[in-house]
Amino acid sequence: MKASPIGIFDSGYGGLTVFRSIADKLPDYNYIYLGDNARSPYGDHSFETIYKYTLECVEWLFAKGCHLVILACNTASAKALRTIQQKDLPSKYPDRRVLGVIRPTAEVINGYTSTKSVGVMGTRGTVNSQSYLLEINKFFPEIKVYQQSCPMWVPLIENNEHLQPGADFFISEYCDQLLNQSAAIDCVLLACTHYPLLMPKLRNVFPSHISVLTQGEIVANSLADYLKRHSEIEEKLAKQGERHFYTSGDPAVFDEHASIFFGEPLKSDKM
Ligand code: DGL
Repeated sequence: MKASPIGIFDSGYGGLTVFRSIADKLPDYNYIYLGDNARSPYGDHSFETIYKYTLECVEWLFAKGCHLVILACNTASAKALRTIQQKDLPSKYPDRRVLGVIRPTAEVINGYTSTKSVGVMGTRGTVNSQSYLLEINKFFPEIKVYQQSCPMWVPLIENNEHLQPGADFFISEYCDQLLNQSAAIDCVLLACTHYPLLMPKLRNVFPSHISVLTQGEIVANSLADYLKRHSEIEEKLAKQGERHFYTSGDPAVFDEHASIFFGEPLKSDKM
């Protein structure tokens, strides 16, 4: 059997912020990144649509030889992961694994809040799924979770307008709406892999006693730990440090935007 790359999937560019941390933490593995840019953003799509799109992309990564796929997208993790894990993998791909970003984040959130009051900002899909509320309260029933959907943020970021002065209105609006829910919030989780790009502006909007948390490092640490515990998966992985990028959209456009998410220039191919 040919050694396998790790697949990393997002609706578009956002997963590159998570891939950045994974590549820094685990540089020796081979990776295939897939952004479904032609059909993003996913945030407002129905459950059925997000599940269908995500499964198609996961199956494409499987066909490319991936035995392990990370959904580096909160919306796909919230809407599609459970069905893929419980229905599709056991019946069609019993030796493949698909992991998401919600559980690893929920597992460690306790370490970032003293008031036990956490704000979660995400797409409508993620917020409406209640996934963070359920997952966090499974591990830490004492934590109060306040959610805020931010439907304008992904379009602003995907169009590279997020650091323009015109974006300020939508940035403050959602932050204010979140903070108005509780004065006790001392940790805000950016539960969308696109949002780390807003960090410079968010740091100015949120008071300094509030920590603003991104997921890249958390997911990278959790993956490293998973690979230590699952030698049956780890030993299948290729380790030449190769990285390939694919998009369902236009590779020239992808390459132009992707570097601001990944932190270095890259070259993609058409899916
Ligand atoms: N980056 C994705 C997430 O983490 C979603 C963006 C979208 O397609 O709406 O939720």
